Amino acid sequence: MARPTQPALIRLTHWANLVLFAIMAGSGLRILAAHPMLGAVGEEYRWVPFQGTRPPAFLTLGGWLAGARHWHFAFASLFVLNALVYLAYFVASGEWRRRLFFPRRDARNAWETLLHDLRLRRAAPGEHGLYNGMQRLAYTGVLATAPLLVLTGLALFKPVQLPRLTALLGGYDLARALHLGVLVALAAFTVVHVVQVALHPRTLVDMTVGRRARHEGGPT
Ligand code: HEM
Ligand code: HEM
Repeated sequence: MARPTQPALIRLTHWANLVLFAIMAGSGLRILAAHPMLGAVGEEYRWVPFQGTRPPAFLTLGGWLAGARHWHFAFASLFVLNALVYLAYFVASGEWRRRLFFPRRDARNAWETLLHDLRLRRAAPGEHGLYNGMQRLAYTGVLATAPLLVLTGLALFKPVQLPRLTALLGGYDLARALHLGVLVALAAFTVVHVVQVALHPRTLVDMTVGRRARHEGGPT
């Protein structure tokens, strides 16, 4: 089945997001390393796994707390700007129609793709257009969770100026745990995503040069 070309703005913002996301995650993990306990001092959360464990140095950026904060705050606006360019194009171009998950259209295909990928079903999933149902589900999940990263980030950045936002997110300490939790979820998505891309290398060509390719399936 011929797939449509990946539009230039989607490709550009996707790869820019990869660089910006890596910078935000690396500097964020260096900030975490300065105090790797979640919850208020003396009332640390018991439910958080790996409490007190410093992230490995090779995953961090900025050298020390102040350096990492400089990186984090300098690149936060670029991260948001890139996301806004993507979103504006996503909505205005109508691309959302073939990229978002709609249960009535995609649920069956998502289920069949999952079973097929797990080798529990022989028959390939039916016709699905640009992305299969599982991809649409995963990408829509990313788009739905990413704003929480920005909102919790803003609550941590200006808790005094934005008291309502901070309160809405359960207070400073919970916002901090959520900020980190979203990063963990997106990092887990990225691992599966990259494995799937490696299994379907033509999609990488499409996402880079945008040309038409003939193939089925794709990464989640
Ligand atoms: C608008 C975007 C963002 C803003 C305003 C923001 C803001 C902040 C602030 C204020 C802190 C606490 C700094 C401190 O206590 O000194 C922080 C920590 C952190 N951020 Fe972000 N952030 C944003 C996006 C991101 C993104 C995209 C990621 C990951 C890809 C990320 C990962 C982290 C991590 C891991 C920490 C350490 C958690 C901690 O120990 O407090 N942030 N961020
Ligand atoms: C080395 C890292 C990465 C590689 C190689 C990669 C590769 C790709 C490729 C090839 C596609 C197109 C899939 C297809 O045509 O079937 C894609 C789509 C997508 N990727 Fe990535 N990606 C990476 C990192 C990330 C990260 C870090 C995120 C977000 C946290 C992300 C989010 C997405 C989303 C949301 C889409 C769908 C975009 C749309 O259609 O609007 N990717 N990626």
